[in-house]
Formats: sequence, structure tokens, C-alpha cells
Amino acid sequence: MIDRATQERIKAAADIVEVVQDYVQLTRRGRNYMGLCPFHNERTPSFSVSRERNFCYCFSCHKGGSPVNFIMEKEGLSYHDALLHLAKKYGIPVEERELTDEEKLRQNEADSMYAANEWAMKLMENWLHNTDEGRDIGLSYLYGRGVTQEAVVQFRLGYMPDSGRALLTEAKKAGFDLGILEKIGLLGQSSTGEWYDKFRGRVIFPIQNTSGKVIGFGGRDLKGGKAKYINSPASPIYNKSQELYGIYQAKNAISREKRCFLVEGYMDVIGMWQAGMRNVVASSGTALTDGQIALIHRFCGAVTLIYDGDSAGIHAALRGTDMLLSHQLDVGVLLLPDNDDPDSFARKHTAEEFKAFVEKNETDVIRFKTRVSLEGAADDPRKRTEAIHTVVESLACVADEARRYVYIQECSTALNVPERLLVTQVAARIREKTEHYKKERARKEAGVSKQEEKPVVTTLNIAQDNTPKSYPLAPYEQPVITLCARYGMMDFCDAVDADGNEMMMSVVDYVRGEMETDGFEFTVPVFKQLFDILVNLQTSFAADLRLKEEEIAPALEQMRREGVEEIGSKALGMSAIQKAEAELEAKIDEERRRELRAFSENYADRFLASHEDDVVRAVASKLLCRTHSLSRIYERHSPAETEADKLPELLPQAILVWKQGILDVNITQTKAQIREASLRNDWGAVTQLQASLIEMMETRSLLASAAGERVVAPKR
Ligand code: CTP
Ligand code: MN
Repeated sequence: MIDRATQERIKAAADIVEVVQDYVQLTRRGRNYMGLCPFHNERTPSFSVSRERNFCYCFSCHKGGSPVNFIMEKEGLSYHDALLHLAKKYGIPVEERELTDEEKLRQNEADSMYAANEWAMKLMENWLHNTDEGRDIGLSYLYGRGVTQEAVVQFRLGYMPDSGRALLTEAKKAGFDLGILEKIGLLGQSSTGEWYDKFRGRVIFPIQNTSGKVIGFGGRDLKGGKAKYINSPASPIYNKSQELYGIYQAKNAISREKRCFLVEGYMDVIGMWQAGMRNVVASSGTALTDGQIALIHRFCGAVTLIYDGDSAGIHAALRGTDMLLSHQLDVGVLLLPDNDDPDSFARKHTAEEFKAFVEKNETDVIRFKTRVSLEGAADDPRKRTEAIHTVVESLACVADEARRYVYIQECSTALNVPERLLVTQVAARIREKTEHYKKERARKEAGVSKQEEKPVVTTLNIAQDNTPKSYPLAPYEQPVITLCARYGMMDFCDAVDADGNEMMMSVVDYVRGEMETDGFEFTVPVFKQLFDILVNLQTSFAADLRLKEEEIAPALEQMRREGVEEIGSKALGMSAIQKAEAELEAKIDEERRRELRAFSENYADRFLASHEDDVVRAVASKLLCRTHSLSRIYERHSPAETEADKLPELLPQAILVWKQGILDVNITQTKAQIREASLRNDWGAVTQLQASLIEMMETRSLLASAAGERVVAPKR
């Protein structure tokens, strides 16, 4: 508890502009300040800060408030801890009584994780500096690589003893929840239930967020072991795609220099920092994400990518550039001489030489891309076309028209194509992107308003609403629409399109194909409505799937990196390496497929469950209720397999049963019609009806044999 008077003192001291400035680069706009909102990713500033009112507000996502609110939201802290945070910033002493046991329990998980990380960082710092093992192994390694004492202190480097129980022992002594330490990746548990230190025998690089909180660690191996680095897992306090190594140490320099150097790894950040370039952060070896770019953009408008000059480096440099351009950042590329990374280069040169090298060799990214994609393309029309497309794609990311035009002029010369061609191509690409963006936004907005709507309690009962009498086919249609609602977007089978190209057919496509071929439809109106929604949903699904693919790319990249490294560490023969690499690729591919499949599997489900139409939502939630597994209708399925696994069998089966149902209903109706016609003595009609009855019965028996004995018609 903080006493009232102290609370007031903290609130009086906290200045909203100063508080926000720790996270956001602000520019003055009249009486207020504006910046990029720290609560959502954006490219044009909508975050406004008023010193007079001591208040901040985002016009776009509507977050904001007092300095305390801001800190609570930004750091994920309780009211109490946000006050403490501000008290520390303003040097206001706080007398606090011990927390009661109950209060300790209530401390939220994130707080305990931050606390545990902070504690562990200090412990490992101490081990590095004040133990023989730390000094002999950890510190001597760092000094041996030219890391200065100043940098060791600045980046809070540490060492984890090799015993495997050092942190564990201390954690027990200090009374930490071992489960929490496991969640943040400091401890692991063996299959026999024994705890051990995950980072043992490694030099530790704490990863801090913009405000200096420790959110994770990287640990470098010192013994030529399997993984060169291990990193903390994602956790409630560590969202890897939103963080950059070194941002805490670099943020002021980035604001000041109005530029940020982006490098690959921990040691590169430290090497550059030592060479006097302090505006440097690392993506830690993975592909850049939107979140990381947004983080950079809070502090400056220009980025220089620094990479190794070998071909892997060039490719790495090119990968994230369009994303950076479309965030309206000024992007430069700097390639270091072959075989040097920023760390080794910094060690070979003085700070002045390094800076001069940057000045002289930094290339504008579009110029760089044009040059690289034209390499070896002079006499190769295909390569030249490809180069044009690559450059057009980048040009289309440049929002500033004047700037784009200057680029177009330059590129038209370099690519040796008329300006006019680039202008039209770029315009077309921009139009395409705008359309896509608009659609996405409309969809997102629709999604938001849906969530804000109060939940409607509906007692709608499908069975009662669609009694067999009003919709005799309802019991046949329900299993099919259920599968569509649950798995509609999943890939179902290969198909060949009109041009003879192979393509994947989704569950919904498959059902639609069946209906079109045999000319039938859902008769229950809400089923038809649901089905139409699912058909339309496929467009946005395709877009979201691409986003998902981008999202998982960094993790896969990391997997590849670790795998390649492991293979490299094994001293295998050529063919064994090739085999191991093929296996690795297969494993990565499998992982990608698993992720995408999980995403597809739940997509329709999630969308329907939050649909704006009450009836659709209610019916969907009934259909989606997993306690009524459809596979119970069909006896043969082993319970170990999921319904989704069984889809290749379940779906055709459900459709077959449906078709039989349709025939049954038609047969019954036709028989009734024959009776009526004979009563009217209309023998012409009787003959005709009998002919179609025979045809229907033949089809019916054909279907039954196709279905085999597995068909158990749903109860009416
Ligand atoms: N990385 C990782 N896991 C690995 C290998 C690399 O997370 N198994 C990340 C680390 O953040 C590392 C970065 O990728 O800093 C760049 O990798 P690399 O260039 O191989 O390492 P360096 O940072 O150069 O480290 P060192 O100089 O100590 O070899
Ligand atoms: Mn290195």
C-alpha cells in the first residue's frame, strides 16, 4: 500500500509528455504533441498528448489517459505498480508495508514474471563478475572477443554457471514459484520431474523492452555445443514479434540521430555500440515483423540495414525491405565486406573508420534492389522481366508521390525501360493494394462492431424451428452444413480448374461442386444463408491465410537456423548432411502445414461464432457445439482420430446420405402423386410419374451400394 499523500505526490510529479516520451517519439503540433500510437501499429500519427491536461489519447484506437493509465496499459501493470513505476522515474521515495500473503497471491502473473527476470538478471550479472567460474569462463570469453567492460555493464550481461542447479537453488531459497520460472524459460523439467537451469554454462544477454524491463534472455554457448544461442520462449511478457534487442540502450540515440541501424544479432549490437554507433538494434536473427518496424518507427523515420556482404546477407537484406518501405520508413542498405558481420568489422576498425564506411557505402534500398536484381540479367529477358516486377513491387510501397517519381525516373534508366511503363505498372499495383487494404479494413471494422455488440441470448432451437414437417430434408442437411461450419475453409481435395491447373478445393468448394453437379440446394433457409456466408468468407480467408503465413515465417526461420547449426556441429559427411538437411526441410514444412491447418480448421468456426446476425450466430453455435460429434452417426470411427482427420470420409458420406434423403423424399412424394393421379383416373400422368419413380429408385439403389453398409441414415 502506498499512502494517499505519496500517491498524490507521484501523480503531481508525473508529466504526461515526459512519460509518453519514454515510448513514443513526439513532435509538437500547436499546443499538443503528436506521435505514433504505442498501443496499435500505425503509419500516420494519431496519438495526441496534452501537457496542459496531463492527458494522452489515441484518436484511432481510443486508448490513453493520465500518466498512470498510460503506464498501466503500456507496461501491463496494476494501478499500484504503475504508481511505483512513476515514483521511481521521478525519484519519489515510497514507504511501503510488506505485502500480505494474500496480496502476494493476487499479484498477477506478469508482475511475477518481470520480477523473476529482473532477479535472475542481477543474479547472473553477479555470477559473471564475482565468481571464479564466471570470470574464468564467461568474462574471459567476452573480453577475448573484444567486448569492453563498459559494454558488459551497459547491456547487463551475465553468466549462468554450468552446474545446472545454480539458479534453481537460488530460486528455491528466494521462494520463487518454479512454474513461473519454467514459463519464462529459465528452468526446465526433465522427464523424471527434475528441475534444471536452462541457460547453464552460457553467457547471458538480457533482452529489455523500451522501458528497461527484462522480458527475456539470450544465452550463448561457450563449448561448441548444439545450439549456439538459446532464447527465452514467448510468454505473457515476451511477444517476440514486437521486440528488438538493444532498444532500451538505443532509443535515445535513435531519436537523436533520427536513424536506426538494424543488425542481426546480440554481438552485432554490442560491437556497433562500442564503435560509437549507439542507435542500433537487432531483430535477433529472424525476419523482421510489422510490430518490430512499428517499434522503430516510434523513435525515428529511417532505418539502415547492415548485413554481411555474402549472398545470404544480401538476401536477408532484401527480405524485409518492402515491409519497411510500406511503413514509410527511409530505408538504406549497407553491405559489409565478405565474411564480416558488424561485430567483427567493428573490431577491425576504429569508430571513425566504421562511420566513414557507413557514410560512403550506404545505398538507398530501391537503388540496391535494382542493382542486385539486374545482376546477370543483361542478356536474359526473363531475368530482366523479373527485375522489373521486383522493383515495381518496391516502388508501389513508397507512399510519397514526389519521391516515388524520382525513383521511377532513376529506375527507368537503370532498368532501361520507358518511364511510362513503370508509371502504369506501379499505379496498377498500388490500386490493387488499396483495394485489398480497403476490403481488409471494412472486414476488420465489421469485426470490431460485432464484438462490441452485447451478446444476444437466443433460445432458438433448430429442431423445433425446422421440424421434419416443415423441412423434411433438415436432418440430412444438418450434418453437411455442420461440417462446412466447422471446417469450411480447410483444404479438402485436389481439383483441376478450367485451364487445367491443379488447385486445392476447400470443403465449401467441394460441397458447392456437388450441389451444382446434381442440382440440389439447402432447403432450410438458415442453412442456405450460412452456406452463402461461408462461400463468401473464402476471399477474406485467403487474405488472412497469407497474413498468417507471414506471421509464422520468423519462427520457421528460427527452426531452420537452429537445425542448420545443429547439422553443422555434427561433423557429418556430405551425403549425411544432405540427408539431414532434407529431413530438416521436411520437418519445417510439416510444422508450417500444422500451423496453417490449425488456422484453417478454426477459421469458419470463429467467424460464424461472432457473426452479426443473431439467428446465424445462434444456429452456428448450435452446429459448432463439439459435444455432438458427427462421427457418432457413423459408427466405425476410432475415437483417437479427430473429426477433422476423418473429413475425407465423413463429408462425402454425409453428402451421399443427403442425396439419398432427397431421393427418399421425392420417392414418397411421387408415390403420393401417383395415388392422387390414379384417383383422378389420369393414366397419362400415372405412367409418366411411374417412369420417373423407377428412375429414382434405380438411382437410390445405386447410391446405396456406393455408400455400402456404412450408411446409417440419420433418425428422422
Ligand atoms: N540466433 C539464435 N539462435 C541460434 C543462432 C542465432 O537465436 N541458434 C540469433 C541470435 O539472436 C544471434 C543472431 O541470430 O545473435 C545472429 O546469429 P549469428 O550471426 O549466427 O550469431 P552472432 O550474433 O554473430 O553471434 P556470434 O558472433 O557469437 O557467433
Ligand atoms: Mn558474430
